[in-house]
Amino acid sequence: MRTIAVANQKGGCAKTTTVVNLAAALAEMGQRVLVIDLDPQGNASQWLQAGEPLDGAFKLLTESTSVEKLIGPCATTNIGVIAASQDLANVEKALGGKLAIDSILKRRLAKLDSARWDYILIDTPPTLGVVTLNALVAVKELLIPVTTHVLTLSGVAQLMLLVEEIQEVLNPDLKILGFLASRVDARTRHSKDVLELLTERFGSQVLQTLIRENIRLAEAPSYGMPVLEYDASCAASADYRALAIEIAQR
Ligand SMILES: Nc1ncnc2c1ncn2[C@@H]1O[C@H](COP(=O)(O)OP(=O)(O)OP(=O)(O)O)[C@@H](O)[C@H]1O
Ligand SMILES: [Mg+2]
Repeated sequence: MRTIAVANQKGGCAKTTTVVNLAAALAEMGQRVLVIDLDPQGNASQWLQAGEPLDGAFKLLTESTSVEKLIGPCATTNIGVIAASQDLANVEKALGGKLAIDSILKRRLAKLDSARWDYILIDTPPTLGVVTLNALVAVKELLIPVTTHVLTLSGVAQLMLLVEEIQEVLNPDLKILGFLASRVDARTRHSKDVLELLTERFGSQVLQTLIRENIRLAEAPSYGMPVLEYDASCAASADYRALAIEIAQR
């Protein structure tokens, strides 16, 4: 079972889009994927039409209910979801006084039946608070989406510092799976510049697959379908299929 967190504290850098459509592309390849939505905005849960329980992620972090009971169904075959609700925003308060709150998720996932899933994909909020920290402590791999239509690399340095600290203190197994260039528009000079900068800084850690700017990705959430179902033959579906193959091989 591979465990992957998708994180970048920069808002709107395609974290949720990556989680939902990578999950769908892996599921299409026959992989069983558990999506854990740790963002109180619940965008991934809504996009995947997650079923009950709708507060699974909050309970995962604050109660000792069996993890299996927190996994809800999803309209897409081979995907299960632990759904996010707004109370996740108050998780720190709810945990007040508890010990080792950064590693709750790690301890909870250790109890999961790992034979049931091939991948766990975790969506995170646009902050580096206790929820994101739990994700980074619980997983072995970190996928960092970076959008190239605006210069987003400033926050990446801060994220990398946090990752180094986590590797030293809380999770020596954490590895960078890769940086994923998203919303790439090859027609603009700016997009090319950001891509060059990313490769200069992070070399082979930048994934070969590029996710191009595509309107279908903005449309798909309102239909409650991953883009691979909404428009199976569009460029975005091809990009996420390529990403799933690259990640499966990495
Ligand atoms: N390749 C793409 N082409 C076009 N639009 C995209 C693409 N990827 C993401 N978007 C759009 O960018 C916006 C932000 O994407 P998304 O919600 O996935 O980011 P996020 O990092 O999860 O945001 P937040 O930090 O708020 O959780 C959305 O409106 C989404 O539809
Ligand atoms: Mg999001």
